[in-house]
Order: sequence, then C-alpha cells, then structure tokens
Amino acid sequence: MPNAAPETGAPMSKIVVVFHSGYGHTQRMAQAVAQGAGAELLAIDADGNLPAGGWDTLAQADAIIFGSPTYMGSVSWQFKKFAEASSKPWFVQAWKDKFAAGFTNSAGLNGDKQLTLNTLYALAMQHSMLWVSQGLMPANKKASTRNDVNHLVSYSGAMAQSPADASPAEMSPGDLDTARLFGQRVADVTAKFRR
Ligand SMILES: Cc1cc2nc3c(=O)[nH]c(=O)nc-3n(C[C@H](O)[C@H](O)[C@H](O)COP(=O)(O)O)c2cc1C
Repeated sequence: MPNAAPETGAPMSKIVVVFHSGYGHTQRMAQAVAQGAGAELLAIDADGNLPAGGWDTLAQADAIIFGSPTYMGSVSWQFKKFAEASSKPWFVQAWKDKFAAGFTNSAGLNGDKQLTLNTLYALAMQHSMLWVSQGLMPANKKASTRNDVNHLVSYSGAMAQSPADASPAEMSPGDLDTARLFGQRVADVTAKFRR
C-alpha cells in the first residue's frame, strides 16, 4: 500500500525500513511496517551488512525506520554492526532532520523490548533525526484482548511479541496491525512536515 501523497502535490516521501531478523519474526513485522508506510525494505544480513546500494538508499530517504529483534535485552549484534557502520554518514550528519522511528519483536511480553527501542532512539538522536512515536492508544482495559492494536502498550515505537516456540506465521494479528498502523503514522508525519 503506497503512502498517501501529500495534499499539496509535493513529491511522495521516500521511507526506508532497515532491519535485522535472525529467524524471520522481525522480518514479518518489518513487512507490516513497510506495508503501512509504503516503504522500501532493507534487510541487514546475517553478517551485519546491507545489500549493495543500501547506504545510498538510506541517504535518499526522507524517513528511516529502524527494526531489530530484542536479543539479550538490546539490538542484535548484526544491527549494532550496522549502527556502528552508520558512523560514516554520522560524521557528516547526512541523516540530520530525516524522520526516524523504531520497532522490535521478542519472545517475552516484556523481555526488555523497551531497552531495544531506547537503543534505536539513541541512534536516531546521534544522527540528529526527528523521532516519530507510536501514536496509538493503549489496549489496556479489562475487555482488551491480545489481538487488539497496541496491546503491548508501547508509546515510543512499535512492539511485537512472538512466543519462543512460535513460527513467524503464528505472530499476533494485533501486533502486525499495530506495525502497519505505525508505518502509516511515520508516512503521515513525514508527509505532513514535508508540505
Ligand atoms: C540470542 C538471543 C537472545 C534473546 N534475548 C531475548 C530477550 O532479551 N528478550 C526476549 O523477550 N526474547 C529474547 N530472545 C527471543 C527473540 O527475541 C525472539 O525469538 C524473536 O522472535 C526473534 O526474532 P527474529 O525471528 O526476528 O530473530 C532472544 C533470542 C535469541 C536468539
């Protein structure tokens, strides 16, 4: 689903979702985020590298959405390698004033996912980017169910939870809807401020 064109006829935003996924769950979440945002997907590989042309793709983006599974309470080492490699654009503040946002997936309902989002936020701040929040109300009532949107109640980015023995195909539909709406919000905010 392409993101909505700004009303003034300004060119469509270029949004890139750059993510790592060891076992496919965060990849499925990344696909949902990208669908909502009308974004291009850029996968960090098992060695922590981007595909050819990946850095140029990021240089051209109006918004970059960072995604990583939570491993041992933080981003995966592959994502961290990418983050450290981004010191090259950092050095010339090439990503300054681009929009940024982050998402993570892990096995625990909590599992220290917030620490991963904090790491993604710190990366964006080091690049002088503009952080976009989750923007969804919490599903925190007695009547709320696991498949409601934002049932994990995150404000600073999107979260998904995949039980340790669940396949990517078994991910919560509510978490995937949350991811889609999150992507859509990043596209909406980016378009709004580019007008
Ligand atoms: C090395 C490693 C460390 C993990 N650490 C955590 C953790 O700190 N918290 C958590 O909730 N789940 C943890 N998990 C579970 C993963 O977050 C979970 O399996 C997730 O769905 C993996 O995403 P992926 O399929 O995109 O790699 C860990 C898994 C691995 C392999």
